[in-house]
Amino acid sequence: MKSLDKSVILVGMMGAGKTSVGRRLATTLGVPFRDADIEIEEAAGCTVNEIFDRLGEPAFREGERKVIARLLGEPPHILATGGGAFMDTETRARIKERAISVWLKADLDLLLERVSRKDTRPLLRNTDRRSTLQALLQQREPVYAEADITVLSDAGPQETVVKRVLSALEDYGGALK
Ligand code: S3P
Repeated sequence: MKSLDKSVILVGMMGAGKTSVGRRLATTLGVPFRDADIEIEEAAGCTVNEIFDRLGEPAFREGERKVIARLLGEPPHILATGGGAFMDTETRARIKERAISVWLKADLDLLLERVSRKDTRPLLRNTDRRSTLQALLQQREPVYAEADITVLSDAGPQETVVKRVLSALEDYGGALK
């Protein structure tokens, strides 16, 4: 069994599968799994929706930046980030310096289908989800493309996506030893 030398940070859009792929990846590698949104909720004592409602998006982004900076100081683990986290210049620079980033790239139809299952995402409440997601995709994809590794996340079994990530990490070097 390989061990993890650096944390692996999953980035990409809401609905790309960061949390479910991340959990499986962590189990396969026998390392801890962390989810930045959950850590933010625990620190704030309320949900992401409530943080947006009560404090606004800038406060959420500040919390997100702090939580990810803290997690990057922890021993190697798998970290699923929220869809906007990698858009932050400071966070992106920290991730580049200390970890390996993996963009889970998924197409609009798949994202739309996945996000429609839950109502936990403030940016998609009371909007036309397709056009909001499309606009975010357009704005974010060039930045997600700065990740060290890009892996296709499609509608097939999530175990296949996990295998793709593992094999991309092997090829990339520096994460598994
Ligand atoms: C966001 C994505 C969410 C969460 C917040 C904002 C975004 O995380 O951080 O609702 O800006 O794309 P997921 O990508 O895990 O849904």
